[in-house]
Amino acid sequence: MTPPATPSIELVNGTAMPMVGYGTYRTSSAKTEYAVREALEIGYRSIDTAQCYGNEDGVGRALAASELPREEVFLTTKTWTNGYSDTKRSIDRSLSDLRTDYVDLLLVHEPTGDIPGIYAALEEALQEGKARGIGVSNFIGDVLDDLLKSARVKPMVNQVETHPYRQQVELQKRCFNDGIIMESWSPLVAGSRSLLRDEVIGRIAQVHEKSPAQVVLRWLVQRGIPVIPKTLNAEHMRANLAIFDFALTKGEMAEVARLDTGQSQFGWW
Ligand SMILES: NC(=O)c1ccc[n+]([C@@H]2O[C@H](COP(=O)([O-])OP(=O)(O)OC[C@H]3O[C@@H](n4cnc5c(N)ncnc54)[C@H](OP(=O)(O)O)[C@@H]3O)[C@@H](O)[C@H]2O)c1
Repeated sequence: MTPPATPSIELVNGTAMPMVGYGTYRTSSAKTEYAVREALEIGYRSIDTAQCYGNEDGVGRALAASELPREEVFLTTKTWTNGYSDTKRSIDRSLSDLRTDYVDLLLVHEPTGDIPGIYAALEEALQEGKARGIGVSNFIGDVLDDLLKSARVKPMVNQVETHPYRQQVELQKRCFNDGIIMESWSPLVAGSRSLLRDEVIGRIAQVHEKSPAQVVLRWLVQRGIPVIPKTLNAEHMRANLAIFDFALTKGEMAEVARLDTGQSQFGWW
């Protein structure tokens, strides 16, 4: 049976990106293969990986085994390089590991190294059809402003830590003004108990007969922020997709908005 399609958001170039994708951070290549196969069977049509996760080949094997037409799956990867030349080489290696001719979204993973050089390699990948969309991750503050001054093609996505404890309200506005979609990484704070047992979120979950994780994901999606939760548990995979049959009220959105600490829960960026 064909699973119901997940709503999507359009990148500035018209490419449709599902609002809920599947994350693969800290999962070995072998486990990733198994988990991504399961996620695709359950109905995920967006997969997020990265060169530094060391599991692109697992994603590639799962995609091949699924026999889904390539155009049905939105595939994201991220570079982990220092400059122009190694980025060029790494993109070809990623495509080979992922067993595909193109990714739907190619991101600079972090604002380190020769950013103009790395980004120029992404712009070329876009022109050559090796990526249908390009963007950045963890670009917050001046680094984003600097890139926008030198980029020929504006980043289409900025993937950053975003959840109820770090809401990135100003960054989202900043991105929106430049046609950049802000995407959430670690939407569940990597499964943190403090978030999933938060009193406010728990109360809202009870009202809607949903789980705290579903309320958090719904809250992000309702702000127009795509999410890529990770789970190795099939029930959680299903639950994380089942967030389009309820809506939070204005008051509930505001209650969660008051949980912002403005602080990273990881201390990376
Ligand atoms: N660009 C970047 O720098 C960056 C950084 C970090 C992450 N990411 C991306 O973002 C993705 C998501 O972030 P993340 O993996 O750090 O963590 P996350 O998605 O915030 O949380 C994952 C944790 O939440 C638990 N979980 C998932 N669904 C649940 C549910 N419905 N109910 C209860 N618990 C649930 C999972 O445990 P179970 O397996 O037990 O369900 C897992 O421990 C990554 O996998 C990666 O693709 C990007």
